[in-house]
Amino acid sequence: EKVFLNGKIISAEDAKISVFDRGFLFGDGIYEVMVQLENGIFYKKAHLDRLQDNLNKIGVSFHVKTIDDALEPLLKASDLTDKSCLIYMQVTRGVAPRKHSFPKGAPATVMMYALPYDLPSINPKNMKAILEPDFRWHRCDIKSISLLGNIMTNESAMESGADEAALVRDGMISEGSHTNIFFVKDGTVITHPANEHILDGISRQIVLKLCKEMNIPTLEKPVPQTEIQNMDEAFFTGTTTQVASIAVLGEHTFYDNDNVGKTTKRLQEAFAKLRT
Ligand code: PDD
Repeated sequence: EKVFLNGKIISAEDAKISVFDRGFLFGDGIYEVMVQLENGIFYKKAHLDRLQDNLNKIGVSFHVKTIDDALEPLLKASDLTDKSCLIYMQVTRGVAPRKHSFPKGAPATVMMYALPYDLPSINPKNMKAILEPDFRWHRCDIKSISLLGNIMTNESAMESGADEAALVRDGMISEGSHTNIFFVKDGTVITHPANEHILDGISRQIVLKLCKEMNIPTLEKPVPQTEIQNMDEAFFTGTTTQVASIAVLGEHTFYDNDNVGKTTKRLQEAFAKLRT
């Protein structure tokens, strides 16, 4: 297994990072996940642009061109050229003595790897999700590598035999632990606005664009937890989730079988077409 680390492609066993790396000490860094599918890296530019925006937001000086240029050699070294795979990238503020203030002049630590990954063109799962309090910070728009809130709520979902946790902040459904969430009511597709309480997912943006193209009305507003029972359909979106129907959300059961709502199904099919 090969990794790209600070300009070099080496084997994973030889890839070493200092214990003084700020990613390790503070979770001080940004990550991205993208997939390569039948027709290339899915929305590569959108992912790299978001990575650059996030690095700018936290004041790490690094240009994603380095990553863009390294993708092809990394895939080649990993024997994944033109193959379905998942690509993980992270950039941290670099190595420096532990101090809260930002170090001056420490070069960013840049790491990425690719792994074989099969993603069916339509997610076959009808997801079961629990509701969990969204106790994360108020900058969820930043794709920070500090993911304690996300992994703790996800783990609660796993412990209760569910597939995902939908998070509730001030009575409103914000997003999933690693997905965005959408509802359908009377033919309108509703999702949380892209503000500091959610990550503006690339898949979220794609679904909103597909809705426009398909003349499906959309509404970007938070849905109160108390309104779940009045919704007709719900689905999660994400790079490794694509569009996944939700069968059960908290106390509410949308379907007790493999049914998928009409609008969800149309969007799943339209999303799958983007790979061809
Ligand atoms: N998760 N919201 C959160 C909190 C996420 O972590 C993610 C992505 C999304 C969906 O974003 P996108 O559509 O750009 O993948 C929403 C990635 C895949 C992960 O942590 O593995």
